[in-house]
Amino acid sequence: MRRLSRYLTRLRVVYGVLTNGKDFRIYELVGNQVKLNFQCQGAEITDNIEKIKDIIGRDKLAEIKPKNAGSTDKSSPPIAKSVITPPQSFQTSIVTPKPKVRTMKTIAIYHNKGGVGKTTTTINLAAAISRKGLKVLIIDLDSQANTTYAAGLMKFDTEEEDTLKDSNIYNVVFYPKSNYIPEIALKSTFTYPPVDVIPAHINLIWQEARLVDKDSSKTHLVKKLELVKDDYDVVLIDTPPSLNLYAKIALIACDYLIIPSDLKPFANEGLRNVKNFVEEIDEFRTFINKPAIAVLGVLPSKILTNANYIKATLPKQEKVVEERYGFPVLETRIFQREDLSRAIDNFVFEGDRQIPDPKSIFDFKPDSISAAEFEELANEVLEKVGLSA
Ligand SMILES: Nc1ncnc2c1ncn2[C@@H]1O[C@H](COP(=O)(O)OP(=O)(O)OP(=O)(O)O)[C@@H](O)[C@H]1O
Ligand SMILES: [Mg+2]
Repeated sequence: MRRLSRYLTRLRVVYGVLTNGKDFRIYELVGNQVKLNFQCQGAEITDNIEKIKDIIGRDKLAEIKPKNAGSTDKSSPPIAKSVITPPQSFQTSIVTPKPKVRTMKTIAIYHNKGGVGKTTTTINLAAAISRKGLKVLIIDLDSQANTTYAAGLMKFDTEEEDTLKDSNIYNVVFYPKSNYIPEIALKSTFTYPPVDVIPAHINLIWQEARLVDKDSSKTHLVKKLELVKDDYDVVLIDTPPSLNLYAKIALIACDYLIIPSDLKPFANEGLRNVKNFVEEIDEFRTFINKPAIAVLGVLPSKILTNANYIKATLPKQEKVVEERYGFPVLETRIFQREDLSRAIDNFVFEGDRQIPDPKSIFDFKPDSISAAEFEELANEVLEKVGLSA
């Protein structure tokens, strides 16, 4: 219903059909309001076919005048169209890249609370954006390297085979005049079209002390990103659940911030830390002539699918975020669904060797509801950063 309302209001589509097979509804955009125009049971469609034709039959749609959509803008008349969303058929297609003038947008995915879905968001949002024909770079700034794993870059078994040890994000942020992004970035295998990834490494933990001693390391990433601004449309930075130097480097380098949160009490209380942290970083950014971070919003993530919770509790929790912590809440919600963790935990056998083969949700289960949710998130984010088609 949320997605359909967005279609109707944003694209100024006049009619939308919403059905799960059992229930059949026609919504109509009247002015700026989406109203339920017709509803029946799936089994009653045959009996109601004339009524339905009278609303969205071909002849009726041909009669539609622009004023029905609440707009007098002649340059973009409303589209008379029915949108059918049968269950499990949210599959999206891959768009071929179009040549364009790039205005690279760098988005950090951050919350100091652990396990709220930062990595899952980074990986699947990157895949959703890449499928729209945009060039994407992922940067993993978390020593847990979960994004590096989820991007399919950790297929080795032993320390000797570890090719990431001497070529990862640490090199990018430590060296001022070498180890540039194109040298360190790797092509991922977790999604198609592939995205570039700058991996993290477990050694980042002890290497942090070296970076702390070197104040300029806070801005090396900013400068190196500037050098690839014509190579990428979107850069997504995954961060550690911490207020440490790596989190600072991410927030200094980004233009925008998404804060995934399960909206549970600790995650919400943690938003106070996020707010203070953002303010601290914004102060630093003024010294390097960067504008304040644009917070795109808190992303409700790993949300329970229980209907009562969604109806009664979730809206209250979202309101608290806006009222108490002053962060906007994104419209898209990412619900807790097993497919998302199964996609990352995917593996294949080579002989008797079990090899990790993580996938994006689009590559693992393209017709899943989670894929549709990430598609919706990509649309919302791209619109908010000015990159929508
Ligand atoms: N929407 C979801 N539905 C089901 N499982 C999810 C969802 N989002 C994340 N998970 C699972 O929850 C766990 C934590 O998610 P994730 O690693 O994305 O969180 P994180 O915020 O990056 O954690 P950390 O702070 O440790 O980096 C993982 O096992 C992941 O598969
Ligand atoms: Mg993570």
